[in-house]
Amino acid sequence: MKIEVLRIGQRLVRDDRVTTHVALVSRAFGATKIIMQEVNPDIKDTISEINRVWGGDFEVEIIDNWKKMLKSKKNQSFKIVHLTMYGEIINSVIDEIRKEEQILVVVGAEKVPREVYDIADYNVAIGNQPHSEISALAVLLDRVLDGRQFLKKHVNAQREIIPTKKGKKVLDKTID
Ligand SMILES: C[S@@+](CC[C@H](N)C(=O)[O-])C[C@H]1O[C@@H](n2cnc3c(N)ncnc32)[C@H](O)[C@@H]1O
Repeated sequence: MKIEVLRIGQRLVRDDRVTTHVALVSRAFGATKIIMQEVNPDIKDTISEINRVWGGDFEVEIIDNWKKMLKSKKNQSFKIVHLTMYGEIINSVIDEIRKEEQILVVVGAEKVPREVYDIADYNVAIGNQPHSEISALAVLLDRVLDGRQFLKKHVNAQREIIPTKKGKKVLDKTID
C-alpha cells in the first residue's frame, strides 16, 4: 500500500520539534512522503540528512495550499484517512483501510476545519481521548502495516543497526 501523510495547521514554524517528529515517524513507520504547509524549510535538510545516513528516499514536500492538495489527492484516487479523536475507533475500520491501495493520512496541529471531516473517507480515532499527532500517526501506521514496516530495508544506507540484546552494534557501510 502507498502511504503519504499531510500535516495541516497554521504557524507550524513555531512547532519545529513536533513537526520533525511527525516527519520522522512517517518515514520510520512506512510512509513514502510527508506534505506540509508553512513549516520551517530546515526540516527538509534534517530529513535529507537522515536519508543520507540511514537510507531510503522518504520525501518532504512543502506546499502553499493544503486544501488544494487534499482535493488533488482525492482526485488521484487516494483514500483520505483523517486522524481525529472524534472519529470512529480504529478497531472498527482497520480491516477496510487495509484493503485500500493508496491512503493520505491527515493529521492536525490545531483545530481542524469541518471540511476535512467531510472530504475524509475515514475519520479515525486512536481512542476517543486527546493525545498527539505523533502518537496517533504511529499507532495508525503500525495497525495498517502490522509491523512489516520494521522489516523494510532502507536502500543506500551508510549505517545499519544490527539488533542486539545489549549494547549498540552499527554497520558502517562506507568502510570496505
Ligand atoms: C493536539 S491535537 C489537536 C486537536 C484539536 N483540539 C482538534 O480539535 O482537532 C493534534 C492532532 O493530533 C491528532 N490526534 C490527537 N488525539 C487523537 C486521537 N485520540 N485520535 C486520533 N487522532 C488524534 C489529530 O490529528 C489532531 O488534529
